[in-house]
Amino acid sequence: MRKPIIAGNWKMYKTFDEAVEFVEAVQDKIPANDKVDAVICAPALYLPILVQIQADSELAIGAQNMHFENEGAFTGEVSPSQLASVGVDYVVLGHSERREMFNETDEAVNKKVRAALNHDIVPIICCGETLEEREAGQTTAKVSGQIRAALEGFTGEEVTHMVIAYEPIWAIGTGKTATADDANETCGAIRAVVNELYGSEVAEAVRIQYGGSVKPENIVELLSKEHIDGALVGGASLQPESYLKLLEAGA
Ligand code: G3H
Repeated sequence: MRKPIIAGNWKMYKTFDEAVEFVEAVQDKIPANDKVDAVICAPALYLPILVQIQADSELAIGAQNMHFENEGAFTGEVSPSQLASVGVDYVVLGHSERREMFNETDEAVNKKVRAALNHDIVPIICCGETLEEREAGQTTAKVSGQIRAALEGFTGEEVTHMVIAYEPIWAIGTGKTATADDANETCGAIRAVVNELYGSEVAEAVRIQYGGSVKPENIVELLSKEHIDGALVGGASLQPESYLKLLEAGA
């Protein structure tokens, strides 16, 4: 049995006070860590303080991106060693918003995954197709290609420490969720790629999230599907009540 992982991705939302209030509101209500992994991926600016205030709770804190180099002349970037030095546990990598708006390539994602593992940070590796690609029947080819590229050079043992997030781009922030069956089919196709590359033990161990307009009303059905092991949630992770409901569904 794979433990569900529910990760909130706040994107570029919340002031500092709002971020602290949120964590203070949820930290004593997080379900036990043996039932569900609860993660909040916050703006980089807030990570150290959020790590500190949730230190005794079951909540883990993640970043939304990072550079692959540990240090250097990269103005405005945050490095894996810097994230590790403040106690960050997870990092979202290759989100479609970064791929589309900040030119993040498959090659860069692959380097970032390596850098994350080097610092014991769990990478949440995103993949997903556009509406045009879906309508052209290219969904499996697109996400398989992204996952093959992200995993290039890793051992099966390393892959078991990663999380993959399938997020159809047309479902992000639009209120349009993929049907649970469609989401499950693509998550199954991703698991099949892992199986082909690393064998069934690794494929059965790696956790695959669905993301794209997940909310308390649809998460139960999504999580009931064989290949969906959690959710990467934007909008519905911004309010404590709705985030806690998502966690309850996973626990
Ligand atoms: O990382 C999260 C996803 O982009 C989903 O965002 O739940 O607002 O659709 P959303």
